[in-house]
Amino acid sequence: MSLNRTTLFRPAIHPRDQRFGRGLKQERWWLNSDPIATAFYNAMSVTFPRGEAFFVESVRAFRDGTPPQLHDEINAFIKQEVNHSREHVAFNNRAIDSGYDISKLEADVIEMLDRTKGRPPIVDLAATMALEHFTAMLAHELLANPKHLAGGEASTRQLWRWHALEEIEHKGVAYDTWLHATRDWSRLKRWRLKSLMMLLVTKNFVHGRTVGILELLRQDGVTGPRAWAGLFWYAIASPGMLRRLIPGWISYFMPGFHPWTHDDRDLIKLHASDYAAAIMPQMSEAA
Ligand SMILES: [Fe+2]
Ligand SMILES: [Fe+2]
Repeated sequence: MSLNRTTLFRPAIHPRDQRFGRGLKQERWWLNSDPIATAFYNAMSVTFPRGEAFFVESVRAFRDGTPPQLHDEINAFIKQEVNHSREHVAFNNRAIDSGYDISKLEADVIEMLDRTKGRPPIVDLAATMALEHFTAMLAHELLANPKHLAGGEASTRQLWRWHALEEIEHKGVAYDTWLHATRDWSRLKRWRLKSLMMLLVTKNFVHGRTVGILELLRQDGVTGPRAWAGLFWYAIASPGMLRRLIPGWISYFMPGFHPWTHDDRDLIKLHASDYAAAIMPQMSEAA
């Protein structure tokens, strides 16, 4: 199967180099004064700086020889991910300042990335592609369902919405890079590796984030059945982020899947205008 760039929509990718929450004394439980909701996002954020650097390297390794438009999209993807990492480093530092010790979570990320050393680059690209699908699904939910961030501290909510918006915008880039890099492969060979990596990535993602969330909750004095039941309720029932990802997750294994077969460009438009309105006061203050 060749890369057919004419049949599916892809949005223009605009890196928005913005900063959030500088100088903010972040509440320890910044989301609804809820330790579980806070831990859910904090544990994810700890993985972003190193995780997104891995995504960048995995995609950059296949940039040479790509068609000009994809080449440009890869460059824009890299700029966006680099900005995300910077802002999540700042966010993670605010979480540290609010009293959390994230060193154990960081050590787990380093150990996980160490395990990728020496792997063929195409396997890293397949892992990145699976994780980019994960982040695109999370991003869609975050923007489509205001319930997730309702009650959160304003500039922190903006940070997550900005990240989500750009994740949707560039959700096809790793996949298109993979389609180009494996253009000589059979469909079965492609499907086998991408599916295997999705299963592996899902196991590691769910396990890794669960361990991280429970560690942060332990630091809040929430342990045992209270922590497990609270996390289960939050992730599966209400607001139920994990449950809501299941249909998108299944779609990844279906024939003909591409991130843009689920066209959610309206979320970009809607939240780009929301986003512009939200940063307007900051911009006029800065002027
Ligand atoms: Fe990102
Ligand atoms: Fe991304």
